[in-house]
Amino acid sequence: MRERLNNKAIIVIGSGTGIGAATVKQLAAEGAHVCVADINLDAATKVAEDVRVAGGRAFALPIDIADEGTVNEAVGQAVAQLGGLDGAHVNAADLRVIFEDSDALAEDLAVFDRTLQVNLRGHLLCTRAVLPHLLQRGQGAIVYTSSSAADVGENTRPAYAAAKSGLNALMRHVASRWGREGITANCVAPGFVFTPEMQAGGQVPQELLDGMLARIPGIRLGQVEDIAAVVALLLSEQGRWINGQVYNVNGGALMR
Ligand SMILES: NC(=O)c1ccc[n+]([C@@H]2O[C@H](COP(=O)([O-])OP(=O)(O)OC[C@H]3O[C@@H](n4cnc5c(N)ncnc54)[C@H](O)[C@@H]3O)[C@@H](O)[C@H]2O)c1
Repeated sequence: MRERLNNKAIIVIGSGTGIGAATVKQLAAEGAHVCVADINLDAATKVAEDVRVAGGRAFALPIDIADEGTVNEAVGQAVAQLGGLDGAHVNAADLRVIFEDSDALAEDLAVFDRTLQVNLRGHLLCTRAVLPHLLQRGQGAIVYTSSSAADVGENTRPAYAAAKSGLNALMRHVASRWGREGITANCVAPGFVFTPEMQAGGQVPQELLDGMLARIPGIRLGQVEDIAAVVALLLSEQGRWINGQVYNVNGGALMR
């Protein structure tokens, strides 16, 4: 398995914690050289250190995907250090405002704008920064992190759902427009994933966890590694004929 991503140059954007951090570790364990890019540089630095301690190759860079300048600068620096680019996992989302993302009548427009700015527009900025480098290689893969929220009608989180739905559309555009030039684009759409940070924080109410588990025709909640495994496949040669898809990874909570 170690050879699957051997010497692949990959940037994971939004990888200081949670799913992104687990993806970095998975990719590095499979042989990739990984740039750990995040708005939280301390967290990204720790992830890169963990990878190096485990014998892998990774380095950290700051990025704010709300800001075009830092996106272009970070991707430029990453490509310079990696010596090119084979793949990108665009995973960042501003989840601090998600609890204020109420409903269409009560929605604070600042929350709506911020959600779209990071979770959708930010992904467009990342796409524009990484694509030319992938095209230069003659082939490459982009994986975006979407969410079940794009497809499940919910009575809350309208901005988050709209952003993730838009992200699925952006992904299909990229897959259609650049597929013939060797690019694949796909989304991984997690259901609820109980990240190590949520577990450590201890702030997720037990009733919510019980409710999430009750929705799953299975025996446990989602873990960050469940998502990382699918991202690794989509970034590998084995995933090269997968293009334009939304991969639902949710333990069966949503079946499509
Ligand atoms: N955990 C879940 O249940 C779940 C379910 C469905 C989808 N998702 C999606 O998975 C992805 C990762 O979520 P997570 O649960 O691991 O949360 P997380 O908060 O641990 O990860 C998000 C990462 O993005 C970074 N980030 C935030 N704003 C940024 C910005 N402007 N620029 C660069 N980096 C920024 C954060 O610092 C963090 O490291 C998100 O896209 C989220 O919407 C998560």
